[in-house]
Amino acid sequence: MKKSLLICGFILLAGFSTACVAKEAMSPVAQGDSVISYLTEANPYQQWQLWPGTSKLYPGKQPHGAFLTTYVSKGAYAAIKSKRGTIPDNGMIVKENYSPAKKLAAITLMYKKAGYNPDGGDWFWMKYAPDGKIMKEGKVGGCINCHASVKANDWLFNGPL
Ligand code: HEC
Repeated sequence: MKKSLLICGFILLAGFSTACVAKEAMSPVAQGDSVISYLTEANPYQQWQLWPGTSKLYPGKQPHGAFLTTYVSKGAYAAIKSKRGTIPDNGMIVKENYSPAKKLAAITLMYKKAGYNPDGGDWFWMKYAPDGKIMKEGKVGGCINCHASVKANDWLFNGPL
């Protein structure tokens, strides 16, 4: 944390303020390609915290996969830790879905965007392949219908929030 502040300060002094601010505060629009480039370039999710209390490759539940690893963005992490009840705007939850042989099969994510879908908890849903090919994105009926059973927990199965 301290180190990144120092680096930020240095960058500010050097006159690259927009680059510095963008790194911390930037979040993509709710659109598949933007989300993927954010997760692979601007803010790689593999460097995020895991969902509190979970480890990498924990045994999964249907339909997501035999093993799962669930990463949460900074804002989401803070909200879960302090049991705030909902994930804040721009919060993201990225789940890696693995086969029984522990091979990465797909990435599924939920991205909170205020005003995006008030009837569905304002979540943007997405599923993509390890090679980056988008399989589903947006207000995806299948995702929404199943996660509706945990609407009271901000549409999340993990928790309680
Ligand atoms: C048939 C029910 C079902 C469907 C359909 C479904 N999910 Fe899930 N989802 C679950 C369950 C159960 C979990 C909890 C798994 C775990 O982490 O132990 C979960 C967990 C998640 C999580 C981690 C956050 C949480 O809820 O705990 C994300 C992100 C997620 N699903 C995204 C999606 C996306 C995107 C789709 C559609 C492409 C989708 N899900 C479709 C049942 C479903």
